[in-house]
Amino acid sequence: MNTIIQYQQLIDEAFKNKNYGTNPKELYEPIEYIMSLGGKRLRPLLVFLGCDFFGGDTAKAIHPALAVELFHNFTLVHDDIMDKAPLRRNQITVHEKWSDSTAILSGDAMIVRAYQELCKSDKEALPQLLDIFSDTAIKVCEGQQFDMNFEKLQKVSIAQYLKMIELKTAVLLGASLKMGAVAAGADKAHAALLYDFGRHIGMAFQLQDDLLDVYADTAKFGKQKGGDIVANKKTYLLLKAIEMAESSRYIKEELHQWINAPHFEVKEKVEAVTGIYNFLQLPDLTRIEIKKHYDAALKSLKEIPADETKKHSLTIFTDSLMGREL
Ligand code: IPE
Ligand code: IPE
Ligand code: MG
Ligand code: MG
Ligand code: MG
Repeated sequence: MNTIIQYQQLIDEAFKNKNYGTNPKELYEPIEYIMSLGGKRLRPLLVFLGCDFFGGDTAKAIHPALAVELFHNFTLVHDDIMDKAPLRRNQITVHEKWSDSTAILSGDAMIVRAYQELCKSDKEALPQLLDIFSDTAIKVCEGQQFDMNFEKLQKVSIAQYLKMIELKTAVLLGASLKMGAVAAGADKAHAALLYDFGRHIGMAFQLQDDLLDVYADTAKFGKQKGGDIVANKKTYLLLKAIEMAESSRYIKEELHQWINAPHFEVKEKVEAVTGIYNFLQLPDLTRIEIKKHYDAALKSLKEIPADETKKHSLTIFTDSLMGREL
């Protein structure tokens, strides 16, 4: 058992010492760049916590942990192309610093490196780890495609939105914990319950990401403020706003005008839509939805017949995640 800080140090050290490749430098420098920007490194931590939860040895979780973080960073590099994002972790995005083509290819190399890392895991656990990893990666692609499809759709239900965020974000958090559990040799049913806990946390995490996209302090959050508003992303806030605007012709018209405007001043659109969100008290409504998913996570955790102190250390971490500003 290590503390969270010790796990974080272990992860940071491992990435500091990684060599992704050198030649051609145009392929590898962007990988070095995005990986050196760090981020919260939440998913590898979940792998370690999942392993520790079932009494596994830290060493068994290292390769799956590094693999999920490499995979996550690959998704970010490609996500930023898809979302036309200028900023990531407070720095210029890979596709803006180099080019779309570079970001695509360096991203491709990252997912290959992720698989190579995963394949260094213990032989007994490897087939199951590969299954979870590949199944999750495909789900993330499905979620990302729904996310893009929804930008163009006028009507998206809350249920469709929840399915989309489950695929693009939540399953990877669940899978991170489950891979740790599998590395520890946990019972299948127990590993599945821990997956459910992570999946619910992941739903809350993406809802919160949608909220922070509009309301976070940019310097902390490190992404373009209101990027989701600019792209007409069907976030929980926008879908709720559309739903609530049905009862007010004035708000309905204003919202529709911004969603359908072919040309606009970015700052103006973000401010106007944020004004509508404020008026409708959407931050509060979103927090209520976040809490629903967080409570569902705790319910799943309760069902696992495990040591209460293990559960406690996991919830200390997830509690802190719910208060995040970045
Ligand atoms: C960003 O993930 C993508 C989402 C699923 C919202 P994180 O918020 O974990 O990003 P980093 O790795 O800490 O930068
Ligand atoms: C990202 O969702 C999900 C994946 C990267 C798979 P977002 O597009 O909301 O993530 P950010 O806000 O750019 O980090
Ligand atoms: Mg996206
Ligand atoms: Mg994005
Ligand atoms: Mg986001």
